[in-house]
Amino acid sequence: VPSKSKIVWEKFSHQSKFQQKLYHYGTFPQGFSWGVSSSAYQIEGGWRADGKGLSIWDKFAHTPLRVFNNDNGDIACDSYHKVEEDVAMLKQLKVTHYRFSISWPRVLPDGTTKHINEAGLKYYHRLVDALLAANIQPHITLYHWDLPQALQDIGGWENETIIIKFRDYTDLIFDRLGPKVKYWITINEPYNIANVGHGYGAAAPGISFRPGTLPYIVGHHLLKAHAEAWHLYNDKYRATQKGIISITINSDWSEPRNPYKQEDIDAARRVVQFYIGWFAHPVFNGDYSNMMKTIIRERSLAAGLPKSRLPEFTPEEIKRIKGTYDYFGFNHYTTVLAFPVEYGKLQHYDADSAGTIADRTWLDSGSSWLKVSPFGFRRILNFIKEEYGNPPIIITENGISERGPIDLNDIHRSHYYEKYINQVLKAYLLDNVDIRGYTAWSLMDNLEWATGFSERFGLFYVNHSDPNLSRVARSSVGHYSAIIQCNGFPD
Ligand code: NOJ
Repeated sequence: VPSKSKIVWEKFSHQSKFQQKLYHYGTFPQGFSWGVSSSAYQIEGGWRADGKGLSIWDKFAHTPLRVFNNDNGDIACDSYHKVEEDVAMLKQLKVTHYRFSISWPRVLPDGTTKHINEAGLKYYHRLVDALLAANIQPHITLYHWDLPQALQDIGGWENETIIIKFRDYTDLIFDRLGPKVKYWITINEPYNIANVGHGYGAAAPGISFRPGTLPYIVGHHLLKAHAEAWHLYNDKYRATQKGIISITINSDWSEPRNPYKQEDIDAARRVVQFYIGWFAHPVFNGDYSNMMKTIIRERSLAAGLPKSRLPEFTPEEIKRIKGTYDYFGFNHYTTVLAFPVEYGKLQHYDADSAGTIADRTWLDSGSSWLKVSPFGFRRILNFIKEEYGNPPIIITENGISERGPIDLNDIHRSHYYEKYINQVLKAYLLDNVDIRGYTAWSLMDNLEWATGFSERFGLFYVNHSDPNLSRVARSSVGHYSAIIQCNGFPD
């Protein structure tokens, strides 16, 4: 199946002149946004404070053996009680934006607008006010994985009624916080919600092994819910609030394991279409890519199923989903090498596309899936430009973890940021990719989902042996802040 992205693989083939320059000097445009990010469940704590309802992550993390070391987010970084401390760190970094998420059950304990928890809303008002007073723009994610458990009890993202519930929840937030907030993200990483939460089962709600069907249904509803929230904002709030709203899509970059082998090149393209394309293709073009539709259909029929496991959008839905973006919100960390696998060998749906490995020469991180491979960042940014019509891009996450003993001199993190941000600069200056902002993950060490507190992504270290959970700057704080203050890498 032809894809516009072909051009990216050709442009960056191994002989390409684009690869030769290791470091590029220059700066980002005036007004480029520099941020850092977090999410509610990972940092807030206060899991039952002031009338908050339970989320699927409260339940998942309280189930033995689901999270490494049985860690949970009951207290986390206690950000629910530490607005001042958190804002002080942001000031030290000199970021222009702070990306954080709202906990849906903190605001709507049973998930519906029947009961609004004003105390929960107050926390977000306090945070937003403190940010604005510090001249830092809030960039709010409306859904970063902590679904109200009450909604999971009636099927969660599998149940189509979630679309209206999500719309009502976002309506409340736009209404209350919208006058102060200009940057919105509807849903964070739909790929992970669908795949990890409803396929591998390694994230809440922890549903596993219904290979190939449920993730696609969940993905379908996530796309529709996103589109409804986008239209709601567009129709009801944009004129007065003048903000921008999009979805954040994550994807690794994928290279052929052997660049001389056509079947590896094809596998690499499939990985990208099944990863970034699963959600970006509908948001930008209205529907799933032909590649996804064809492959899933063929494989479903071959497995004896009556129809494709990938649900279909109606023509009206296609119209409604197409163009529901104001920018491309993009999370990126690493690159994989792709090769073909026989369908059926691996039982996970994303292996519908190909197998992947990492190059053994790439530096490690504290996360098994994250290898330092900065070149892939420039390539996938170019892919976005070519494949989706040169949209404005805000990088909403990028960063590196470590494990083991605490070392505040985290040179590996400074190295990672420098290399990765320099690739962003190349994409902007040399390839004319329309990049408007960059956001580091993460402000401070936090609950890294199923791996608990063992994987640390923070620019700031959080001292869990101190009852005050004091935050301490790692050396990368100074490095990232220097890049921000220079607006890149001036000559
Ligand atoms: C993806 C998620 O959005 C975030 O919550 C997570 O902690 C980081 N990436 C690192 O895995």
